[in-house]
Amino acid sequence: MATSLMGKHIIVGISGGIAAYKAPMLVRLLVKAGAEVRCAVTDHALQFVTELSLETVSGNQVYTDLFDYRNPHTTEHISLKDWGDIMVVAPATANIIGKMACGIADDALSTLLLSFRKPIFVCPAMNTQMLESPAYRRNAEIIHNDGVMFIESECGELACGTVGNGRMAEPEEIVKQMVEAIERPCQHDYAGKRILITAGPTYEKIDSVRFIGNFSTGKMGFAIAEELANRGGEVILVAGPTHLTTSNANIQRIDILSAREMYAAATEHFPTCDAAILSAAVADFRPEHEADHKIKKQNDHDGMTINLVQNPDILASLGSMKQARQQLVGFALETDNEVENAKKKLTKKNLDFIVLNSLHDKGAGFGHDTNKVTIIDREGTVAVGELKSKQAVAKDIADTLIVRF
Ligand code: CTP
Repeated sequence: MATSLMGKHIIVGISGGIAAYKAPMLVRLLVKAGAEVRCAVTDHALQFVTELSLETVSGNQVYTDLFDYRNPHTTEHISLKDWGDIMVVAPATANIIGKMACGIADDALSTLLLSFRKPIFVCPAMNTQMLESPAYRRNAEIIHNDGVMFIESECGELACGTVGNGRMAEPEEIVKQMVEAIERPCQHDYAGKRILITAGPTYEKIDSVRFIGNFSTGKMGFAIAEELANRGGEVILVAGPTHLTTSNANIQRIDILSAREMYAAATEHFPTCDAAILSAAVADFRPEHEADHKIKKQNDHDGMTINLVQNPDILASLGSMKQARQQLVGFALETDNEVENAKKKLTKKNLDFIVLNSLHDKGAGFGHDTNKVTIIDREGTVAVGELKSKQAVAKDIADTLIVRF
């Protein structure tokens, strides 16, 4: 079992959602992995799980009340925070995430979270509407930017009787992701490496208010940027228009709008980089003329024709500039003869490996949090991946690239 948790002091925070019934199982798995566990619970959590079961599985007294003088750790949230190496909040309700985002400390768990300066994981659990609400998304982004790590919820049957995203990750999955994240900071295999990444869509202007774009969100490229930066790499992220944010100081972000702007930034920075990973969904064409005013309808019946001209192929250009010390990675989005077409692209654009997305795979591609890719290298190795989180796919890409240096 997970050796990196051996001897770690883990505080399991439990807030008030139905998924709290899974908390004793999580505690048991952490203890089995060699960790010492203490639980900090909210009053609402105790409606779903008993203090006695948590005490039994953890072998320690439960931290419930900020002012309970009988509990040696209670008013001493300072000493409990010093004792803990890691906190994991499972389940994390919209309420506790909101409190964390705002710095509210009105009970034992929220007070502890506010004072805790070491790794914190949250495992959200709530119904789909709450998960998708603007307020929750805002709060989640705030704490993500503060460095809190998310073990995202899964799709499935929810307590409210509906089916959708919002079910807390299973305890086994929580432990697995914690182990991966804890082992990651030790892995500084990208230290000293400078990597260029392109991500997101490009917008090609038709006139002052309209453009030709695509549905790319940039999630895959941003996940790669975070992964490499977490592993010590210096990342130059050339990003098309997207709402995504970056949290790692090792990422230098250059925001662009059009394919030509992306081309200019990529070709400027590539010579100083050790590798480039081009995940952007670049518009192959742009309008030949961009009107500097809003184009008006001429009359009620006439259609309109926009002449398109080709944009530069950034990946092919970097392929022709590439030096022997550099690695170049491209993406391919294919619908038919996927592997064959991807191999052709790899050769034509002088790549070291290519990451193939098939439009036939459910849950993969634009906008999803998951992806399913096949990695094909110039030696002809074809590695077919499973459907997994974009973070996990980013790790696979990073692992494939590092061995090539
Ligand atoms: N790409 C690029 N510049 C372009 C077009 C694509 O850098 N003008 C990059 C993408 O970032 C991706 C790869 O090329 O890494 C493949 O893009 P894709 O659209 O699948 O292939 P194309 O080369 O455009 O070929 P086609 O559209 O004919 O499949």
